[in-house]
Amino acid sequence: MGACSAVVSADSGHDIIIYDIDQARIENFASLDKEKIEESLYEYGLADLVVKNKSRLKFTSDLEEIIKDLDNVQAIFMCLPTPEKDESGETDLSYYEKAVNDLARILVKRNEGAQSQYVLIVNKSTVPLGMSSRAQEILDSHGVKNYGVGSNPEFLVEGKAIEGSTRPSRVVVGAWQEKDFAIFREIYKRFCESPNTSYLEVNPVEAEAGKLLANFILFNRLSACFDVVGRTCEKFDHLHFENIRRILISDNRIGNWGFYDSLFAGGSCFIKDARSLSFQLKEKNANVDILNDTLSANERQLANFMQRPEQELKLDWQNKKVGILGLAFKRDTNDIRNSGAIGAVKFLSQKNVAEIRAYDPIAGDNFQKYFSDNELVKIYTDRKTLIKDLDVLIIATDWPEFRELVQEIEENLPTGALIMDGRRMLQAQYEKLNKAGYDIIAVGSSLKKSISVVN
Ligand SMILES: NC(=O)c1ccc[n+]([C@@H]2O[C@H](COP(=O)([O-])OP(=O)(O)OC[C@H]3O[C@@H](n4cnc5c(N)ncnc54)[C@H](O)[C@@H]3O)[C@@H](O)[C@H]2O)c1
Repeated sequence: MGACSAVVSADSGHDIIIYDIDQARIENFASLDKEKIEESLYEYGLADLVVKNKSRLKFTSDLEEIIKDLDNVQAIFMCLPTPEKDESGETDLSYYEKAVNDLARILVKRNEGAQSQYVLIVNKSTVPLGMSSRAQEILDSHGVKNYGVGSNPEFLVEGKAIEGSTRPSRVVVGAWQEKDFAIFREIYKRFCESPNTSYLEVNPVEAEAGKLLANFILFNRLSACFDVVGRTCEKFDHLHFENIRRILISDNRIGNWGFYDSLFAGGSCFIKDARSLSFQLKEKNANVDILNDTLSANERQLANFMQRPEQELKLDWQNKKVGILGLAFKRDTNDIRNSGAIGAVKFLSQKNVAEIRAYDPIAGDNFQKYFSDNELVKIYTDRKTLIKDLDVLIIATDWPEFRELVQEIEENLPTGALIMDGRRMLQAQYEKLNKAGYDIIAVGSSLKKSISVVN
């Protein structure tokens, strides 16, 4: 995420230093080789933008190397991981605090110790409310002077990060003093003057809260759609998810964002941020039922989907060959964090299946690393070979190429196999596939049994 914001900032004409402790990542970016950059981080358009703005970008994994540069740096953006400690939702701030401590040690050396260059320290990570005060405490404890703290939460969408950063619908900046807002205005000149972007100036705590609350509202909507709309369409005959969707989204108050069905809403943010908000509110003795229900509704969708073959077809998973298409948590990214495919593999690994064949256009390597100790999982790069002689084929990611699978399935998947469509990618073709001899279990549809066609 930091890389995307940094590169877009360079594209706005600013000189940027990117520091990361991950030396391999830095070397890949500094190589300006598109393949290597994408190996480190796949985001559509990112590698091209790095190459385009190479003269304004400096990459380093050595903090000492940039002490001199700090004499001219106006703002430093902190884009650190803020994972959960555990399922309680408490945030693990160790990465963040280590980075602030490391930064403080070099900030005191600015202008040979005079610290005459004012610098704004901006938090871009998604953090618990009040994190800017914590950063301030750490900086003060090291004797850092002449600085301000601000917050500028990231609202970008993975897979569309570059488009989202070059044409954001909103930019939220949080600061306590006018001179810090002035620095933000300079950095975001391109957006604060744009009629297409809501440029919002608030205080740092409001900025932090706005990010967590926005993510919760989006997540809640997805969970409601999967769990209530999807389940209604699965449980009653004659309901077509697509028709129900059209009825609902034609109401302007409902709108169409998030109106699809999926086996799971994964990724690095929604689940973590909802748990974090729940943890923080619990600490304030507030009721968190709706947050917890949203999280369970999402979990329930995955469990429900994976249990349906046993419940509806009496399928015995033992010794079955299962294929999973789509390993990233969604299309256009190689990020597999909390992906539906991970949940599917964990479920299948308990069921004594014979093998799990896995395919993704770009996330195969990450998936392989994640399941390196699971002998059942084999990564395939050729879909046709994967599909041949399977008992069950699961679609777990909404890659557009999966919409075109019907012919490949008919030519390679044995008749009688089960297709589990966790993204409704083949929804326009369910009848055709039933006629070709496949049973279908799709999120948002009741069981669709194969039809024997007598010629
Ligand atoms: N990924 C997204 O699309 C997205 C969107 C909005 C908000 N966020 C938030 O942004 C933050 C970062 O998320 P991410 O997905 O980019 O994480 P990430 O794990 O992909 O990247 C974090 C980077 O920080 C580096 N790092 C760790 N410790 C460091 C240190 N001490 N000094 C310097 N670098 C260090 C890591 O090597 C890594 O490259 C999180 O708080 C996340 O919730 C992410």
